[in-house]
Amino acid sequence: MKNKIDRRKFLIGTSAIGLASGIANPLQAQTRKIIKGGIKPVVVASDNGYTMKNGGKFNCVETAFNKIINDDDVLDALIEGVNIVELDPLDASVGYGGRPNAEGIVQLDACCMHGPKKQAGGVGALEGIRTPSLVAKAVMENTDHHLLVGKGAQDFAKNMGFKVEDDLNTESSREMWLDWKRRIDPKHYLDPQKRDLAGRNAAMEMINEGLIPKNEYYGTINCNGINTNGDLCGVTTTSGIAWKMPSRVGDSPILGAGLYVDGEHGAAGSTGRGEANIFNLCSYLIVEEMRNGAHPIDAGMTALKRIKENTIEKRLLNSRNQPNFDVIFYIIDKTGRYAGVSLYAETSKDKPFQYAVCTENGSTLSKIEPLLEGNSA
Ligand code: GLY
Repeated sequence: MKNKIDRRKFLIGTSAIGLASGIANPLQAQTRKIIKGGIKPVVVASDNGYTMKNGGKFNCVETAFNKIINDDDVLDALIEGVNIVELDPLDASVGYGGRPNAEGIVQLDACCMHGPKKQAGGVGALEGIRTPSLVAKAVMENTDHHLLVGKGAQDFAKNMGFKVEDDLNTESSREMWLDWKRRIDPKHYLDPQKRDLAGRNAAMEMINEGLIPKNEYYGTINCNGINTNGDLCGVTTTSGIAWKMPSRVGDSPILGAGLYVDGEHGAAGSTGRGEANIFNLCSYLIVEEMRNGAHPIDAGMTALKRIKENTIEKRLLNSRNQPNFDVIFYIIDKTGRYAGVSLYAETSKDKPFQYAVCTENGSTLSKIEPLLEGNSA
């Protein structure tokens, strides 16, 4: 129990240091109108929710927070935030310019959940539309279903008026895909297991050579928020694992895996290796833990421990017999307490995992609370 309390104090202290270090605060002027319904509004997201602006003035969490405190619907606010990252060609893990699959085609996954309305929608392996989060919302609002995939999802989007493009690659995403492709031994193509291994090894080589950042291999954006009335919503959107098998769908569009929101108890979403998350349905587990009274950090730790316990295949373990991948969760509970937790402390040597937070004090990158020291290598 002592350990749990210490972790919470540490997180609060870390955020305060980030804010005290003079990070821009474009929202401070509006502080007074923010906390009128009793709960302090907050938006949390993966770190690209802080770093990406697509040439504009505000990042994802600032945009969403600004709309939330101006009484916009929380889900609309979050989706407008992640749209910045989906449309930004510099983020090679989400939307336009996201990493393509093994055949060079960008296939996108997304889902969203509306806490108060108890509604959800998602799309998997969607081609040709830069903002899959908006198509996920259209599935939520215009169908009786929670998940549409592939060509059917694209046809649906087209009918709903979305612009369908032939190719969502940028020059840079295509160039990196070609580099990866050149490293794959064609003789492995008939054996899916060897092909997967060769593909992952080539990707790790490229990360080690500094050609792509490690966090873009499984890159995604998850963004969750709560307003002063306690309305909780969330959205997750991604291009999935870089150079994935065609039609591979990750955790991002799967309710309970890449995202789960229960309007009465909490919201959780993820970035990182989707397979580990789908297997353990971690976002659902985290929200259930919060339903039973757990603090967001402790709820997240339960899910991370579950992933660790269930990772036993040798190919998924590093030399220390621990998972050789990253998974990160972004969590808010019904009272507005929030946390970012990850399997490992560092994304690579001496580079700590961080997550984006926006409160009435402005936006910052906060240190993530890890289950394990070091990094996944
Ligand atoms: N978490 C993103 C993916 O695995 O597709």
